[in-house]
Amino acid sequence: MASTAVADVNAGRVAVTGPLDATNPAIVRMRQLVDGKQYTDGWSKCWEQGVTPWDLGEPTPAVAKLVQSGTLPAGSVLVPGCGGGYDAVALSGAGRFAVGLDVCDAAIQRAKQWSSSSPDVAFVNADFFTWAPPEPFHLIFDYTFFCALDPSLRPAWAARMHELLRPDGELITLMYLVTNPSY
Ligand SMILES: C[S@@+](CC[C@H](N)C(=O)[O-])C[C@H]1O[C@@H](n2cnc3c(N)ncnc32)[C@H](O)[C@@H]1O
Repeated sequence: MASTAVADVNAGRVAVTGPLDATNPAIVRMRQLVDGKQYTDGWSKCWEQGVTPWDLGEPTPAVAKLVQSGTLPAGSVLVPGCGGGYDAVALSGAGRFAVGLDVCDAAIQRAKQWSSSSPDVAFVNADFFTWAPPEPFHLIFDYTFFCALDPSLRPAWAARMHELLRPDGELITLMYLVTNPSY
C-alpha cells in the first residue's frame, strides 16, 4: 500500500488520512473488522462504514507505468479484490477487457457507478475463492489483495491463481513488507 492515504470526505464516512500503519486509527479499525474467519463480512463492514484507508481514489501508479510501457498482454484481465475499480479501468482498453472482482457489493456498486462510461470493463460481486468465470485470464493483477488476506489463505490464493490464469498468462502481484512478524 502507499505510505499515505487519501481522505474520504463523503458525509457519514470515517475520514482517513495519514500513514498506513498501526499509528493510523483507520488502519486499526480496518484490522479489527477483517480479523477472523468471517473476514468477508469484515470487508463489507469496511466499505459500508467508509473505513477504506487503502483507497487511493485513482489507479495504482505502478498500473499507469505498466500500461504506458506497452508490455502488457492483450486479452482478458482479472483484478481480484478490485475495491473501487480504478486499476481494472486503467488496465482495460488497448485490446484488453478487464473484470474487477470484489466480494463486497458496496465496492462493486461504487466501481460500476463511476466507471459506467468505460466500455471494456465489467465488475463482478463474487468471492475470489469460489467464483467460476467461463475462461481463465491472460493477465491477473493483484494489488493489496494477497496482502489483505489472512496468511492461512495463501496456499488457497496460489491454487486459485493457478486455476484462473491461462497457462501462458501473466500474474502481476505487488507485495509489501510488513512489520508484524505474524504476517
Ligand atoms: C485492501 S482492499 C484493496 C482494494 C483495491 N485493490 C485497491 O487497491 O484499492 C482489499 C479488497 O479485497 C476485497 N476482498 C477481500 N476478500 C475477498 C475475496 N475473497 N474475494 C473477492 N474480494 C475480496 C475486499 O472487499 C477489498 O475491497
